[in-house]
Amino acid sequence: MLKQSHAISEELIEWRRDFHMHPEIGFELHRTSKIVADELEKMGYRVRRRGGKTGVVAEIGEGGKVVAIRADMDALPILEQNEYEYASKTPGAMHACGHDSHTAMALGAALLLSKEKLPGRVRFLFQPCEETTDEENLSGAQRMAAEGAMDGVDYVIAQHVDPAMPVGTIGISAGPCSGGVDNWYGVIRGKGGHGAHPDHTIDPFHLLAHVILGLNGIVSRRINPFEPAVVSIGMVNGGFTENVIPDHVKLSGTLRFANPAIHETLREEIRRAFEMAKTMGGDYELRFEYGGPPMINDTTVSEVIEATGREMLGADKVHEIWKTLGAEDFSVFLEMAPGAMFTLGTQKKGHEEYMLHHPKFDLDERALPIGTAMLVETAKRFLGNA
Ligand code: NI
Repeated sequence: MLKQSHAISEELIEWRRDFHMHPEIGFELHRTSKIVADELEKMGYRVRRRGGKTGVVAEIGEGGKVVAIRADMDALPILEQNEYEYASKTPGAMHACGHDSHTAMALGAALLLSKEKLPGRVRFLFQPCEETTDEENLSGAQRMAAEGAMDGVDYVIAQHVDPAMPVGTIGISAGPCSGGVDNWYGVIRGKGGHGAHPDHTIDPFHLLAHVILGLNGIVSRRINPFEPAVVSIGMVNGGFTENVIPDHVKLSGTLRFANPAIHETLREEIRRAFEMAKTMGGDYELRFEYGGPPMINDTTVSEVIEATGREMLGADKVHEIWKTLGAEDFSVFLEMAPGAMFTLGTQKKGHEEYMLHHPKFDLDERALPIGTAMLVETAKRFLGNA
């Protein structure tokens, strides 16, 4: 499979560079999704365009089990600082998370699978908007899932590039590998007045100080030390001049968890921290916005991916996944069918220091045939189980 995959290296690189030169953001993936859908039709897939706004769902094969392969296609609102000839031609948009390569490798996998006699079906989920959400707070995976993209799927797999690991390696682990997320938005209300007479006010900054101490104590004092969790403040906003105590301060932030069982605990503890404002004579408002579940890799699927990697790349080339409480909306699909995401080593010499989302991020294209072969081989193993 690796050989067949290497044989289409040129196509893989061409697709990847084309997407890289023409990055599109969020759900506005009109050019990208058209190219993807056109290519899949040429390969003989049954293609549904515009699933989840600008997603593409494509299936091949008959009967048997359904294995889904997901690829995210969206870029980031970043001004690219690389200067090679295939750098972004759209100022302020850049494929700095490798989704250009995810799309290219999934197209490569689609091409190779279209030449096989399959004992089941393979469905490709090319999704928009992994990096953010729309005006209704829904991401690309949530939109596609709501439109039935996962109906009837037995297994679902995906990959993500990892610029910290060398080419020729993959990362895979069972269990939680990325974080469940809420954003939270708070207002602390006091009573404004003259800066020289704090005794006539209820200083919202003073209330804020106690709320922040409370928030920062949640993970260390209120959560089981064996449970990964984060409460971070990302914004504090209040006041307008030196000698006036304002009547309110705004603060917002994010919460993260690996185990859905502690999600509500984190919310409750954040509420309790804000209650401090009330205790001290003020008041507060607090609102949570659900961002999505943690990404939990299924044990059996992870084992199949691991075995595939060991046989294809060598036992020493398969390592534990680098776990993060960053968000990955593939988690939405994993709530609907057993599946797993693996990481693909794409470290590029001279670019080691530029991680995902960096304006100088780049990847070693020699990894493209490896990711492609991993997708194809893993999918075939699941269909073989049918
Ligand atoms: Ni990404």
